[in-house]
Amino acid sequence: MKACLIHGNTRSNSNTEALAMLFADDLNEKGVEVCHFFLRDKNIQSCVGCNKCHSVLDSFGCVINDDMQEIAKEILLSDLIVYTSPIYTWMPTPSQKAVMDRTYAFTKYPENDDAFCLLKKQKYAMIATSGDECERNCDLFDESLRRMAKFANLSYLGYLAVKDPGNGSIANSESISKVRVFANKCFEAIK
Ligand SMILES: Cc1cc2nc3c(=O)[nH]c(=O)nc-3n(C[C@H](O)[C@H](O)[C@H](O)COP(=O)(O)O)c2cc1C
Repeated sequence: MKACLIHGNTRSNSNTEALAMLFADDLNEKGVEVCHFFLRDKNIQSCVGCNKCHSVLDSFGCVINDDMQEIAKEILLSDLIVYTSPIYTWMPTPSQKAVMDRTYAFTKYPENDDAFCLLKKQKYAMIATSGDECERNCDLFDESLRRMAKFANLSYLGYLAVKDPGNGSIANSESISKVRVFANKCFEAIK
């Protein structure tokens, strides 16, 4: 079992990253191999809409030669893809949105056949933190991933979201128990 965590936070002292690392620890303890991509250290360009990827039928096929290439390789090998982000203006951060856009390259449109997605076994999940109530601030990110999964015929396992504790640590007993429940749900879905 393999999980790929794509961390969309922009700062290193991050609530979202701390929460996601607790989640990763839980998965690790259950025997899941977890790989991490920290987008703040990566060069991920925006999709340029050239559509060349869609006719490369057997691989990612994106023509942009940046760090998304190694992320795409890992996505193909993983059972679980976790998109994490702080909420910025009701959305994931630009780097995470760029990754989400670039996964469209996995959808293939053969000339004389039906469209298909190269991803088959992968399940999607989301981790977010927001300054205000999660239900009213993480919902658009959640809905994007739900629709992305539906479009690609993949399962979406839902989200773990915690409100920014302000000056306190995000690793309080309430969020730790939320992490435990969500990690268990994800583990049960991929085991
Ligand atoms: C540019 C910017 C935009 C933000 N927009 C929202 C928002 O729309 N809704 C919200 O609840 N919090 C918003 N926040 C607060 C962050 O989501 C919150 O503090 C989060 O926990 C920060 O995560 P991090 O520590 O991982 O960077 C925003 C913060 C920044 C810097």
